[in-house]
Amino acid sequence: MVSRLAHRPRTEPHFSKLGSVANILVTGGAGYIGSHTVFFLRKSGHRVLVADNLSRGRARAVPEGLLRKVELRDAAGLAALFKSERFDAVIHFAAFIAVGESSQIPEVYFSNNVGGSISLFEAMLDAGVKKLVFSSTAAAYGIPKSSPIEETQPSAPINPYGETKVMVEQILETLDRYRQLRSIRLRYFNACGSAPEAGLGECHEPETHLIPLLLRAVMSGKPMTLFGDDYPTPDGTCIRDYIHVSDLSEAHVIAVEHLLNGGASGVFNVGSGQGHSVKEVVASVERVTGSKVPLIVGPRREGDPPSLVADSQKLQRVLGWKPTRVDLDEIVRDAWEFARKGSCG
Ligand code: UFG
Repeated sequence: MVSRLAHRPRTEPHFSKLGSVANILVTGGAGYIGSHTVFFLRKSGHRVLVADNLSRGRARAVPEGLLRKVELRDAAGLAALFKSERFDAVIHFAAFIAVGESSQIPEVYFSNNVGGSISLFEAMLDAGVKKLVFSSTAAAYGIPKSSPIEETQPSAPINPYGETKVMVEQILETLDRYRQLRSIRLRYFNACGSAPEAGLGECHEPETHLIPLLLRAVMSGKPMTLFGDDYPTPDGTCIRDYIHVSDLSEAHVIAVEHLLNGGASGVFNVGSGQGHSVKEVVASVERVTGSKVPLIVGPRREGDPPSLVADSQKLQRVLGWKPTRVDLDEIVRDAWEFARKGSCG
């Protein structure tokens, strides 16, 4: 079978399924995107360890024997981990991600997302590990000036969650300049779907994301509230760029291999480049499940920009990534396959 990653440009020496194997630490690897990335890293032949405090992640999403329960702000615990294992690179997902919650308890978000990251970077530098892929977000752009959004648009987050991610990006730029810590910052748009072949999927508690909430509404019969249908978009509902979690995970594999091969630091959007309105997602869920979604139209949710669509040309051009699962029904079908089994437990 031809690997999904086969389109990547090859340089020698390279770290990949066919080349050298790297030892990679994945923080937050028990979470949604982290656990999928662990699956794709191992599929590419890399050795992986997961550091997760399990405050939000699920131990059962991590393959047997790979989980280390570690709190990133515990400097001694982290130092012990870096002493007992040799890592070539780190992929850093561990963070709180709920936009609404971040406005209620911003101090907790700063402590966890920024404090945890600084502690991790100190431990990495102490251990001489100087390659990192960082999980950033489209929330860095706030209300974008134009669409599709290029990386050159200014960072202007409009919620504390986005602020924490921009702060860590800035710290990484400084560490790149002064400490040669090379990093790829990936700004994700709307991660969704699941990798049925890995038995993985999306399990947040509380769940706030559109596709799993629509699927829950179908299964429970309890209506989901659609946040506003009076936006300045063709059908009045918000437009987002839904990126399949498997394509997103492959972007991490490519990014870490780029760094391992001596590639330069950079910031990259990760999106499909296609916008879908909330109503279009509802229609897709109805097609895939064969059921009508019970819906209530409510007021707008604070802080929701009308449209967020990525320009991911830079990631395609510089790192050779290409999304391969861009059909909305395919994304929803994968999410449905996981959700209908009640796999979150
Ligand atoms: N929506 C509803 N009802 C709901 C939930 C969502 O109508 O119950 C709508 C939202 O208003 C939005 C769309 O569905 O228009 C998508 O909402 P999500 O909550 O699924 O995703 P967001 O676009 O709000 O958030 C995503 C990521 C965040 C990230 C943000 C960047 O999940 O982590 O993009 O802007 F910060």
